[in-house]
Amino acid sequence: MRTRIFKINPENIDSESIKECASILRSGGTVAFPTETVYGLGANALDDKAIEKIFKAKGRPSDNPLILHVHSFHEIEKYAGSIPGIARTLAHFFCPGPLSMILEKKPVVPDSVTGGLPTAAFRIPSNEIAHALIEASALPIAAPSANLSGKPSTTDGSHVIDDLYGKVDAIIDAGRSEIGLESTVIDLTVTPPEILRPGGISFRELKMIIPDVRKAFAGDINTAPKSPGMKYRHYSPESPLIIVRGSVSATAGMINDLLIENPSAGVLCSDETMSLYNSENKISAGSRENPSEIASNIFNALRLFDKTGVTAIYCEYFDIGDLEEAVMNRLVKASENIVVID
Ligand code: TXA
Ligand code: MG
Repeated sequence: MRTRIFKINPENIDSESIKECASILRSGGTVAFPTETVYGLGANALDDKAIEKIFKAKGRPSDNPLILHVHSFHEIEKYAGSIPGIARTLAHFFCPGPLSMILEKKPVVPDSVTGGLPTAAFRIPSNEIAHALIEASALPIAAPSANLSGKPSTTDGSHVIDDLYGKVDAIIDAGRSEIGLESTVIDLTVTPPEILRPGGISFRELKMIIPDVRKAFAGDINTAPKSPGMKYRHYSPESPLIIVRGSVSATAGMINDLLIENPSAGVLCSDETMSLYNSENKISAGSRENPSEIASNIFNALRLFDKTGVTAIYCEYFDIGDLEEAVMNRLVKASENIVVID
């Protein structure tokens, strides 16, 4: 398939390119586009055939539901059935932004979008290109992250081109994603509401609005997954990722020992700890003083390791406050093994 690439400068959005991409969406095509979290692979959420193209391009299991991207709360009202008051309150505080709310769906939303579930996830992205595209298409846009299924999410236009060129109708390349981790997914169809995926909006922030909000993403990996996306291995780089958790010196000691056995492995670390490792293949995700920098670099780092062809990746534990949960959730999902040193 021929893939058209639209390079769009986020500082000066070219409205002609947006119009062309919107018309591709309106005629049932697929367009990868930037959001503030990660890139999404979009198609008309009301068109079964278009939705099928998303699953095919990504190689995604068809029972894993997609998020509907809309430009306003008013649009959510068109596609969601009963909307609890808390949805409006959350939207007031966090939308547009990195929050996806699960609500009952109206019959107009096809089962193909929700993997047959009676509920659907809704998100209002704040990224201006995403916003312009949704408005110009005048459609709800169903979009999973724009990566091949099982690979790290894409946080740069070049990642999307690596994964999806030749498989989709168009790719908007607008450089790096601001947040670099996917949205927080919260289920508002249950009482109290449950967080199904930690993300750009933290547990602490949600707890300020919903004091009894629960986490449904931690816990026994053998229990049945609540969110269909939780049962698949995710974000995996080519080589095995091993997380080492302990004090700074114990972590460095353990990783340096592992490197003696496996000198062509890589190390994923931070600015503060980089000098402690005896390896040629070190990547710092950023400063521990700047958690959002670390969060925004995680997927990029996993993809860089893939390019350098390391035999394994040894990774520090990032205890970085509010974003720790979201960052470590992605790394644990990508990992083969976790070593905890007392
Ligand atoms: O930041 C994001 O959320 C990005 C950008 C593109 O918006 N999108 C994204 O989509 O990460 P995806 O498909 O990679 O992840 C969506 C997650 C999956 O784990 C899916 O199972 C869950 O949301 N999900 C979607 N609809 C659901 C529903 N009705 N019930 C439970 N989980 C749902
Ligand atoms: Mg994804």
